[in-house]
Amino acid sequence: MTASTRLGVGTRGLSSRALIHVSTRRKIAIDGPVASGKTSVGRGVSRRLDYRFLDTGLMYRAVAWLALERGVDPGDEESTSRLAEGASMSVSDSEDMGVIVDGVQLGAQLREAPVDRAVSLVARISRVRSALVRLQRDIAREGAIVVVGRDIGTVVLPDADVKLYLEASAEERARRRHLEVHGSEAGPGYESVLRDLERRDALDSGRVDSPLMPASNAIVLQTYGLTVDGVVDEVVRIVEAGQWA
Ligand code: CDP
Repeated sequence: MTASTRLGVGTRGLSSRALIHVSTRRKIAIDGPVASGKTSVGRGVSRRLDYRFLDTGLMYRAVAWLALERGVDPGDEESTSRLAEGASMSVSDSEDMGVIVDGVQLGAQLREAPVDRAVSLVARISRVRSALVRLQRDIAREGAIVVVGRDIGTVVLPDADVKLYLEASAEERARRRHLEVHGSEAGPGYESVLRDLERRDALDSGRVDSPLMPASNAIVLQTYGLTVDGVVDEVVRIVEAGQWA
């Protein structure tokens, strides 16, 4: 069933103005650099609004995992593109399910260090991006959804109803990532977390195809010092106030 037939069935009897109002609340794009909080915030917003949730980073991670698993150099454009184009991939929006690639269910593996190191190399390859963007748009077509990534507002869903771009300093983001991985905000691993994050930011922002940047009509949110719940509150407030371009 397409989104428009669903909308027609679900909103029968509403005035055309109300119909437009309902339809404008269907897609929320959240972009931002490494560890800016997109995934936690996006998931929180999707729960509050009862929307579906798609973490597109997991899809790039799944291609990186597949390349490593098959012994393909993740920087080899031809072989990695063929892998991405030939793989079957389905993504779950439940917290622990992750991605199923060619019948293999992937979860925690997608966050391991080798995948972290390889993912931004894979994500620079245009044919990989085209294959994944096609799938992301198919998933988003099905109805109300929060989609998080690097190019959602600019490329994947340029007509999203609300576009947000989350920002925080590299040091703040490295503290958050260190807390996630090591259970504390600082410690012996901090410098290497910061270096890896800056390296991945540089690759994501400097690539030719779909570089990381805020869409021209995105609302940029500084998240310094805010909790995840605090940012979720702010995003829901923006959506409910209808503050979009
Ligand atoms: O969670 P974290 O911020 O570390 O990264 P992620 O959202 O899981 O994304 C992993 C990598 O996938 C990014 O560093 C990008 O290289 C790539 N990516 C992308 O290019 N486009 C997207 N829409 C999502 C992720």
